[in-house]
Amino acid sequence: MSSFAVLNASQLVTLSGPKRPRIGPELSELGITPNGGMLIRDGQIERVGASDEIEKNVGDAVVVDADGRVVMPGFVDAHTHLVFAGNRLDDFERRARGETYEQIAKAGGGIWSTVQKTRAAGQLDLLTLAKKHANWFLRCGTTTVEAKSGYGLTIEDELKILRVLRQLKQAVPLEIVPTFLGAHAVPREISPDEYLDVVVTEMLPRVTAEKLAEFCDVFCERGYFNIDQSRKILSAAKKLGLSLRGHVDQLTNSGGAKLMAEMGATTADHLEQTDEQGIAALKKANVQPVLLPGSVYALGSSRYPRAREMIEADLAVVLATDFNPGSSPTASMPMVLSLACTQMKMSPAEAITASTVNAAHSLNRGDSIGSLEPGKIANFVIFDCEDYRELPYWFGMPQTHSVYVRGECVSRSSGL
Ligand code: NIG
Ligand code: FE
Repeated sequence: MSSFAVLNASQLVTLSGPKRPRIGPELSELGITPNGGMLIRDGQIERVGASDEIEKNVGDAVVVDADGRVVMPGFVDAHTHLVFAGNRLDDFERRARGETYEQIAKAGGGIWSTVQKTRAAGQLDLLTLAKKHANWFLRCGTTTVEAKSGYGLTIEDELKILRVLRQLKQAVPLEIVPTFLGAHAVPREISPDEYLDVVVTEMLPRVTAEKLAEFCDVFCERGYFNIDQSRKILSAAKKLGLSLRGHVDQLTNSGGAKLMAEMGATTADHLEQTDEQGIAALKKANVQPVLLPGSVYALGSSRYPRAREMIEADLAVVLATDFNPGSSPTASMPMVLSLACTQMKMSPAEAITASTVNAAHSLNRGDSIGSLEPGKIANFVIFDCEDYRELPYWFGMPQTHSVYVRGECVSRSSGL
């Protein structure tokens, strides 16, 4: 395939704009071309504009007729735990009976139960499962994901997960950005201090020597890693050249947002309990908040992060699924958009900016993906609707028509 044209999009949602994360009112500017089109050459966007203008330049390019549908950038999901074995159906049922995430973890469920299953799985089995998960993302219109380790918690098992991610990259069209999350929980067989030492002196050097991750993450939470322990891990990772993300202030406000600001992290994720001081600290240090309403919903909580205050404070908000078997078993970014609009009072336009161009910047890929602009990689989705607001509006309904990565169609719904 060398070149082709997409014509007759009811709305070509370009997200064109400044070459940096969008803040404040910029989050509402989607750069829509009504009745738009695009010329793609060798996997890159060459030209974007009115469909009839593009048509004049088609030449011998193949034409894809969007036929009055919405065309927009593929979603960029900046927070997932894509590699794991098994499921957490028992936890799910216990939560339905009223037990909390922390109670279930103490009783032998939670992250630890997934660690046991993931340790027992071979690399090939994990790859097979990961391919299935990757396919879910593509079918929901996501073309890039960040993916964390964190269900191994021994050096060999953490490396195994990161190697699965490396293999997965070669095996599926979904683009993958790997993150090391050795500090996801303290394994049962070793003391917290000993484990901290393993993460810092053994795991991080191996992960960076083998170039298996771009980011380092930590679960900073009561019962997991406290502020001091998190600081030690993040400092060591930073010295080794990794950029930083963090699970912070999810269940309790422990000052995690402030820590991410102090560390100069790229993102601070979750933030359900973050207060105005935390928000101010993130702003001062230019840290992007990654909001994960799917995990609030699936845990049956009503404590969503303060998205409106963050937008008003000019933070470059990102939305992501937090796909994982425990707190957020969904790969659906449209479902996350719906939750963002109904539960966090973000507008549909703000939610789309947060899950495309802002998410791309949070993965250090703002130059190449996240918007439909000349020179960017042709990762885009045709949705079976006429107006972008239909994505969060018709919630829980598949609207993906077809998905393109690097200019190639990688998923198409069968339809009628
Ligand atoms: O982002 N909070 C920590 N990690 C995940 C949950 C992982 C799990 O429950 O398996 C999260 O919510
Ligand atoms: Fe997470």
